[in-house]
Amino acid sequence: MSIYIVLLGPPGAGKGTQAKMLSEKMGIMHISSGDIFRENLKSETELGLLTTEYMNRGELVPDDITIPMVHDRLSKPDCKKGAVLDGFPRTPAQAEALGQILEKLGGALMSAPYIEVPAEVLIDRLGGRWTCRACGTIYHEKHNTPNVNGCCDFDGTELYQREDDKPETVERRICVYLEQTSLLIEYYREQGLLYEVDGTKTIEEVAGQLEEIKKKR
Ligand code: AP5
Repeated sequence: MSIYIVLLGPPGAGKGTQAKMLSEKMGIMHISSGDIFRENLKSETELGLLTTEYMNRGELVPDDITIPMVHDRLSKPDCKKGAVLDGFPRTPAQAEALGQILEKLGGALMSAPYIEVPAEVLIDRLGGRWTCRACGTIYHEKHNTPNVNGCCDFDGTELYQREDDKPETVERRICVYLEQTSLLIEYYREQGLLYEVDGTKTIEEVAGQLEEIKKKR
């Protein structure tokens, strides 16, 4: 049976960082809705042009665009064994839709780890984030530095700062998270799937807490 994990947490909690490591350890795909939107923006597809304004304002892309996009991605052969979902679901409608999608695909949600981090830490993390333009590896100017300043350790490509990491957009993203996405904590708690993780620890320590979910398989 395919295995699916949903990583919950506010912007900057470390979902992308942890999803990459966890998916590699578990041998399943890392699916980030934000990365799919950014790839579409880079390739100037219709979807990319349609969603860029929402992202730059720090608002959620509407469910009727996001849900079919993720459904389509999870239906691809490389997701046959399952996926670590990062950034989806983000609304109760997306969570309901995910349940139906997984049922159709013959899989089930194994766990919904919630990476908990206070707001003041999030602002520092997003302000110092640098990402590789080619492979998407995430760095931080203080907490997770590349070997050579401004270059990715894996492919030497230039690092960039995300458009939506400007302080005013970060503030809006945190508000949107509190209003619309934090509801999912109770949603998954009620289903017995929530697993609380202290996201203020080091990257390695958080990864260690996430490893525990494998024991629950
Ligand atoms: P998305 O790309 O999903 O962004 P996000 O959820 O806001 O999360 P981030 O990617 O900013 O943070 P993260 O938790 O992954 O942290 P990271 O690992 O990078 O979404 C962007 C936009 O797309 C949304 O605003 C929306 O418009 C749209 N969108 C996406 N999905 C959508 C959906 N489902 N529905 C509607 N719209 C959607 O870490 C952050 C930094 O901290 C890094 O520098 C990292 O090195 C550092 N760090 C990580 N962990 C630690 C640690 N333990 N200690 C110290 N530093 C750490």
